[in-house]
Amino acid sequence: MKFYSIAIDGPAGAGKSTLSKLLAKELGFMYVDTGAIYRTVGYYINLMGIGSKDTDGVRRLIDEVNIDIYIDENNVQRMVLNGQDVTDEIRTPEMSKYASDVSAMAFVRSFLLDMQRDLAKKNNVIMDGRDIGTVVLPEADLKIFLTASAEERARRRFEEYAAKGEKTTFEQVLADINQRDFNDSNRKAAPLKKAADAIEVDTTGETLEQSEKRIIELVREKLAI
Ligand code: DC
Repeated sequence: MKFYSIAIDGPAGAGKSTLSKLLAKELGFMYVDTGAIYRTVGYYINLMGIGSKDTDGVRRLIDEVNIDIYIDENNVQRMVLNGQDVTDEIRTPEMSKYASDVSAMAFVRSFLLDMQRDLAKKNNVIMDGRDIGTVVLPEADLKIFLTASAEERARRRFEEYAAKGEKTTFEQVLADINQRDFNDSNRKAAPLKKAADAIEVDTTGETLEQSEKRIIELVREKLAI
């Protein structure tokens, strides 16, 4: 049986997860948020008292990381780390930084590669991340590179944090986004980059509904489904 895969890559806050979730629901595909996998690794490293840039420390601990992913009854991707559900704990600014730092380590990326590919072998997937179209699923049926201006992405992230009661400022979120864009795009291992055959979709100034409509049209046209 042929399984379809759609790769959605792009910088932090471009709307990848929101749009991927909507799209997955519309198409009946499984949504896989790969950033959550890096966040879970970062969470464990932090829990064990290791700094996010301590490559030797991360290397020592990486084999202790056991991740299970499942979709709950509310269609939420639950992340289970060594038997403990950490889905909510990984969504903090500190874990964003940890995820970005550990994701720059090539051995962390190869440790997680098969897990991601296995999901696409067994399901119709919409997978979002930074290197899905370039490294994880180079044969994806459709690749979208989703972007928006840094200010707009920071505003969206800031509103997300504010809704959760997370204490931060817009300026801080913007600085973090710029730093993360730089780290994710300039690392040696699988940097954030538009695949040659990806279609770029810039959502700056669009409402969610407008972006959703545009992307669904694109998918229906390219996949003929
Ligand atoms: O999408 P996110 O903000 O949850 O991702 C957290 C970090 O994980 C991001 O800064 C870079 C890294 N990441 C990655 O390197 N490759 C992916 N496929 C997904 C995320």
